[in-house]
Amino acid sequence: MLTIALSKGRILDETLPLLAEAGITPTENPEKSRKLIIPTTQEDVRILIVRATDVPTYVEYGAADLGVAGKDVLLEYDGDGLYEPLDLKIAQCKLMTAGVAGKPAPKGRLKIATKFVNIAKRYYAEQGQQVDIIKLYGSMELAPLVGLADKIIDVVDTGNTLRANGLEPQDFIATVSSRLIVNKAAMKMQHRRIQELIDTLRSAVESRQ
Ligand code: ADP
Ligand code: PRP
Ligand code: MG
Repeated sequence: MLTIALSKGRILDETLPLLAEAGITPTENPEKSRKLIIPTTQEDVRILIVRATDVPTYVEYGAADLGVAGKDVLLEYDGDGLYEPLDLKIAQCKLMTAGVAGKPAPKGRLKIATKFVNIAKRYYAEQGQQVDIIKLYGSMELAPLVGLADKIIDVVDTGNTLRANGLEPQDFIATVSSRLIVNKAAMKMQHRRIQELIDTLRSAVESRQ
């Protein structure tokens, strides 16, 4: 059995066409089904539906052999049992700092609101800047508007969410796309099978560029 962990939304939407190229199609619509284990047209391949930030955990512990996770999630994840053999070039965006448009940063220690606490710590340590980090789970754009923080760190694509809230992108931290990740033991135990899938997915990705 090959078990693939995916999250609903853009990762599922953009990964299913790639898996289809490898002959793997869910037998029911994962976006509609309440089931969390979805069989596919290949009897020995199944899809687990998990939260985006939980994909690396399922794969590291071997509950899933493979998964698809954003580079932002992988940079934030602290574990070390994962291979990252392929950039699927989907769900592309950037990790940026952002703040209120036109408002200069206050003097002294900045307050940074983000769900990417580890990324934030590393980024400001590299800048040699002392900051206070405030952990949020979503709606980061709100924090600078109500005085919870001076800046946020979040993913930015079109910039529409920032603009709609009177914020502007400021410092670039990293480019983000989703990666295929593989459990290390599974890569050894099912090497031929998984390598074949990686090769098929790589061709599918390359034929799109
Ligand atoms: P979540 O519920 O955790 O926000 P998403 O499906 O929105 O899950 O995001 C999954 C991944 O897609 C993120 O980890 C990131 O890599 C990428 N992503 C998030 N927002 C965007 C966006 N607006 N445009 C493109 N990619 C994005
Ligand atoms: C993501 C992210 C930003 C937005 C950036 O939210 O958290 O809010 O996209 O994209 P933009 O620059 O094109 O506006 P998402 O759509 O995933 O909603 P979420 O709050 O449910 O994660
Ligand atoms: Mg999101």
